Amino acid sequence: MRCYIVYYFKIFLIVCAIHELTCGVISTATNEVYKKLLQLRSLPFEDCGSMFQVMYLKIDGCTTIPCTMKRGDLVDVRVLFDDNGSGVSFLKHEVRWVFNYVKTQAAISPDPCDGNQECIESTGDGKTYLAKVYVNTTLPVMRGRMLWEAKDANSNNLICFEVPVSITL
Ligand SMILES: *[C@@H]1O[C@H](CO)[C@@H](O)[C@H](O)[C@H]1NC(C)=O
Ligand SMILES: *[C@@H]1O[C@H](CO)[C@@H](O)[C@H](O)[C@H]1NC(C)=O
Repeated sequence: MRCYIVYYFKIFLIVCAIHELTCGVISTATNEVYKKLLQLRSLPFEDCGSMFQVMYLKIDGCTTIPCTMKRGDLVDVRVLFDDNGSGVSFLKHEVRWVFNYVKTQAAISPDPCDGNQECIESTGDGKTYLAKVYVNTTLPVMRGRMLWEAKDANSNNLICFEVPVSITL
């Protein structure tokens, strides 16, 4: 039985080599399954026009929406996105808090992430970036949103997502 499996697997590989196209489809399918799994484990977010697909979002200490964020805290944010193999190595963050339509700039570190600070790394098919957002002590204690944009050196918006947040004391 085992031999048959190996045998068929070998045949499969040979067929693959001949029909690269077929295998391309299979690896694309595997890639899609991987993306779906990541998306299932991600914190829910709203995409606001990303050029690259955001596959996974993690905000430290946040498992449900809205994300509770404590004034004065530095919060780790991890984002996995598919850069389509373009080798993104620079990200300028532009993050805003939105409360009742009033937007205030959030402080992010490191910013920009230029690839020399271990803030961006390759992960499987995509890239992961890690940044810290400062929950300013002057923020109102209420519900709002965190609007995160990450741009390239030419100010193209590579990533844009929004997450409901709730600021606490
Ligand atoms: C990345 O690839 C996807 C799927 O092939 C495509 O829809 C998207 O436009 C590409 N994005 C960029 C920035 O190349
Ligand atoms: C926090 O907010 C105050 C005023 O709202 C601002 O002056 C200060 O620069 C902010 N701090 C940081 C680290 O963004």
